[in-house]
Amino acid sequence: MIDSSILLSAAELFGTPFYFYDLDFIRDRVRKVYDFFNQFDFHLAYAVKANFNLDILSMLNELGTMVDVVSFGEYERVKKAGFTPDRIVVNGNCKSVGELKKYVEDSVYCINLDSLEELLRLESVADRPVRVAIRVNPDVDPRTHHHIATGLKENKFGVDYETAERMIQIISSSRFVRLVGLHCHIGSQIVEVDPYRQAFESMRSFASKLNLQLELVNLGGGWGIDYGDGRQLDLEEYRKIIFPILKGFNCRIILELGRWIVAPAGYLISKVEYVKRTKNKNFVVIDAGMSHLIRPALYGAKHRIEPLYEQKDRPTIVADVVGPVCESADTFAKSLEMAQPKENELLVIRDVGAYGYAMSSHYNLLRRAPEILYSKETGFRVSST
Ligand code: LLP
Repeated sequence: MIDSSILLSAAELFGTPFYFYDLDFIRDRVRKVYDFFNQFDFHLAYAVKANFNLDILSMLNELGTMVDVVSFGEYERVKKAGFTPDRIVVNGNCKSVGELKKYVEDSVYCINLDSLEELLRLESVADRPVRVAIRVNPDVDPRTHHHIATGLKENKFGVDYETAERMIQIISSSRFVRLVGLHCHIGSQIVEVDPYRQAFESMRSFASKLNLQLELVNLGGGWGIDYGDGRQLDLEEYRKIIFPILKGFNCRIILELGRWIVAPAGYLISKVEYVKRTKNKNFVVIDAGMSHLIRPALYGAKHRIEPLYEQKDRPTIVADVVGPVCESADTFAKSLEMAQPKENELLVIRDVGAYGYAMSSHYNLLRRAPEILYSKETGFRVSST
């Protein structure tokens, strides 16, 4: 956790609510993931959807990562941040014909094909060599929230192995489409290693059954972080169980992490407007709402909420922490026990660097939270985006 005095001085300068990103943390995470995979030919393709802040992307560009984009908007954004197409992986289950054309023209590093139909679309527009991977759907339960499970056969993403085989046949007689890899992303906020084991083992047996000469295997993202309940992906277990499977692929490994890289680096700082007392309940009403951070309303996600005020000698209160949006879903915590806040005191909502600002909206026309960037060396500044 960043020193709270830093958050307090930022609040004085910028007002609330605001997002605050610790750039040193993100840099450190990138280093850690490259160190972790140092025995492999490895690349991180950061999942831009988690946080598309231009300054963060520019920093990642300088650090030499690759990026994974899921829309043309993200594609344009990463190019603006300095990424050249040869460091861009294109994902998404709905690429338009025009977009595919552009990806071919620019020679992106790899297009991850989500369907046979998409392959046919690409085939019809490809007029020069284009590198593709097939996104397989291994039908594995990632044991995460059902909204963010993507590798079950009931999910819209990827193709089963039979379809993948047909796609490979089509590609083998294609003039320009070149199969370089297999891709899979089974879900997000995954805290158990076993779903990964199942997915990667099934991909490996598929690759060896067809004797595929792969240049890369793309493992998707999904590493779960600790949101305060102590559950997170155990990397030592991952090393023990997953590395031997990866060695069997004998090719480049791409990992599309988003959350693990940026979530713990982000803080949402909000002001307490007042404490509302009813016969049933107390409500701590704060100036950040579901339009700033929708994860609790959408997924029932629990983020740690911590006071940025002196807690000593305060009575304790049990209250729901709620925002200003006109919906009952606008609730960040239920029956939270906390040192009773006074008006204008600050709370910090933790681990919001991923899918926080990126999923925020104009709902109720609340003021959009500015994004503040911080690093030890340069102090803080308002982000240009
Ligand atoms: N690759 C693909 C193809 C993806 O669809 C995703 C996330 C990732 C990589 C990155 O996953 P990560 O490492 O961040 O778990 N809004 C939800 C999360 C949705 C994830 C969508 N896809 C949330 O707030 O929890």
